[in-house]
Amino acid sequence: MNSRPFELDALMASHQYGHALPREFYTSQDIYNNDIAQVWNRNWLWAGHVSQIPNPGDYFLFDYGPESIIIVRDREGEVRAHLNVCRHRGSRVCTEQSGNSRVLVCPYHAWTYELSGKLRAGHNMGEHFDPSKFGLFPVQVSVFKGLIFVCADANTPSLDPVLSQLSPLVEPYGFDDLKVAHTASFPVPANWKLAVENYLECYHCGPAHKEYSRSHSLKSPQDMAGLVEPLNARAVKVGLTPDELALVGEAAPTPFTSGYYRRYPLYQGYKTGSKSGEALAPLLGTLKGFDGGATDFDIGPLNWFLIYSDHMVGYRFIPRGLQETDIQVVWLVSADAEEGQDYNKEDLTWLWHVTSLDDERIIRHNQSGVNSQYFQPGPLGEMETSIQDFYDFYFAMIRSEPEQRMACNG
Ligand code: FES
Ligand code: FE
Repeated sequence: MNSRPFELDALMASHQYGHALPREFYTSQDIYNNDIAQVWNRNWLWAGHVSQIPNPGDYFLFDYGPESIIIVRDREGEVRAHLNVCRHRGSRVCTEQSGNSRVLVCPYHAWTYELSGKLRAGHNMGEHFDPSKFGLFPVQVSVFKGLIFVCADANTPSLDPVLSQLSPLVEPYGFDDLKVAHTASFPVPANWKLAVENYLECYHCGPAHKEYSRSHSLKSPQDMAGLVEPLNARAVKVGLTPDELALVGEAAPTPFTSGYYRRYPLYQGYKTGSKSGEALAPLLGTLKGFDGGATDFDIGPLNWFLIYSDHMVGYRFIPRGLQETDIQVVWLVSADAEEGQDYNKEDLTWLWHVTSLDDERIIRHNQSGVNSQYFQPGPLGEMETSIQDFYDFYFAMIRSEPEQRMACNG
């Protein structure tokens, strides 16, 4: 199914540990295609929140690279996911980004699928046609406290071990009772890995993000000195236990199922990621107050969240082509918060709007320089060690061959 780019092993071998990747990882179409097959199709991806599909028949699409996944609530109320590829001659079945439908009807020749993915019938297909063999290809689904994760590959291990580890830590934030307040996409002409690398380090935050740097420590030990202990004391008072301040993860048996949780201090005077330092929305979940902290919360190597006391922000870096990526930012607030009354969308989204515009610019210039014949991968700094961790994940994923996908029928 997947032809391994011939130069991949030599390129991985040529990578110098603790340095940027060789140029071809950001410029080769073969490597990009391999990334989709080996990394994106095999990883758990955060698609959305259950509040986006409250009723049976509600669906939305989650797309990356050449793939499209239908996420739908079935008649029994379960969240299901199917590949959006008709089993007849391959048309997209759903062509709207979201909607409600009793059945899923392919617009080409009207093959009709149940919400479960089962094919109802194929008209004029002859007496020997067996519809049970032509259900939509199923996609794995994992719903964690309302957050919907999907994985196209049936062989990828379950997220359950890491989710059960993270579950008590995030309980006070009430993920189940969130809603999407806003989603923004910032298209950047760069390979998806450059966008991920940029997210993973805050070495650039000082020079590139003047708004962010006013409120957020840059997470270097010097920068956090004197801030962590007072944060821990305040966190306990608002309902976060000391355990919740611990670093978690890295115990995961595979790169696909890692997890990370870390609450860190904002600078004094900031309750949340706002321009003024003041609250932006009602407190999340069962929190009793603002502790002046923010949590980095990751599930797997491709899904990142930042949890403030009054809202959560999700980040995705979705490949659209070799050097086309969407920086997607999703803001979530308490389900019962009303826009205009409890929160103002412009204020809520201000910080990560300006910050993402900065990121778009620096990632674009990064790709432009990497495209030069003179680019040589330089050394990573002390604040960029998580980029090497990402490379470790990435190499582990592209090194292991996927099992041949079986044509399973829904
Ligand atoms: Fe879907 Fe023909 S391609 S019904
Ligand atoms: Fe940034």
